[in-house]
Amino acid sequence: MTDTKTAFERRLRQSAAETEALLSSLLSDSRLSDEIARPAHLMAAMRHGSLNGGKRLRPFLVRESAALLGGPPGAALRIGVALECLHCYSLIHDDLPAMDDDDLRRGRPTVHKAFDEATAILAGDSLLTYAFDIIAAPETELADRLKTELVLALARAAGPGGMAGGQALDLAAEKNPPDEAGIVTLQAMKTGALLRFACEAGAIIAGSDPGHRDRLQAFGRKIGLAYQLADDLLDLTSDAGTLGKATGKDAARGKGTLVALHGMAWAEERLDTLTEEAVELLAPYGEKALTLQETARFIASRDN
Ligand code: IPE
Ligand code: IPE
Ligand code: MG
Ligand code: MG
Ligand code: MG
Repeated sequence: MTDTKTAFERRLRQSAAETEALLSSLLSDSRLSDEIARPAHLMAAMRHGSLNGGKRLRPFLVRESAALLGGPPGAALRIGVALECLHCYSLIHDDLPAMDDDDLRRGRPTVHKAFDEATAILAGDSLLTYAFDIIAAPETELADRLKTELVLALARAAGPGGMAGGQALDLAAEKNPPDEAGIVTLQAMKTGALLRFACEAGAIIAGSDPGHRDRLQAFGRKIGLAYQLADDLLDLTSDAGTLGKATGKDAARGKGTLVALHGMAWAEERLDTLTEEAVELLAPYGEKALTLQETARFIASRDN
């Protein structure tokens, strides 16, 4: 048991290093064809907000779900990096004074603190746009049809009916507390949608049939809900040193969370149930799915 966990953590760390290496080279100061110039302070802010030691869980999920279904690893790495750019944009904007107003992210000052608000907004805008550049670019060796499917799926996951819409509901919920169904919906959108995409992307990259895609999407949905539940629990139980971001803020801001509604014991039990349901969904793949199943368990037990 301990061995599996160690092997899993090594694998996650190795994948994070590969993700960062590619991300770093894509965020250099040298411009790409048809780019006119890359403003140095904007690039520095983008690097500050993305090359700062995140867990890189979403790229890991893309790569592992592609590997499960035999998708090309090089393309999976690039799609993972694209998704990470989009995720980092969501964090930079989430931390802005107009949203959660946070000063600390991944153990460092947030982008608007290290630079200024306008630069943070533009660094977020640029990372969002760059995500789609990375998918469409010729260096991503995938059939155009698959790239179009990825662009569409990511746009749906990130846009008004996904992450950005969920963030809007999250902020509205500070003023009008939602009921349980409302909280589940907002969390499925603000956090779940990108995690669902991470898993589904593997099936798209592999050109798999709809059966596999649906199964991975269902797995992604479960771990997406689990992820935000764990995040909300950590906000209560952890500390800034461990988590790399301020804690105790959800209650202070009156965030609509299931932990606030039902308490910690309920949330922990729900987390276990979601994890086991996620693990079960991948049972048909047998041993090949062990890493993804381990990822679901990691999400529930992580301490940062
Ligand atoms: C934090 O995401 C925001 C949520 C969606 C809960 P992560 O916990 O994946 O943060 P990083 O990327 O590892 O910093
Ligand atoms: C963030 O949720 C979700 C997105 C960034 C889309 P939170 O606001 O709970 O994330 P943290 O706790 O600041 O990382
Ligand atoms: Mg938030
Ligand atoms: Mg926040
Ligand atoms: Mg949180």
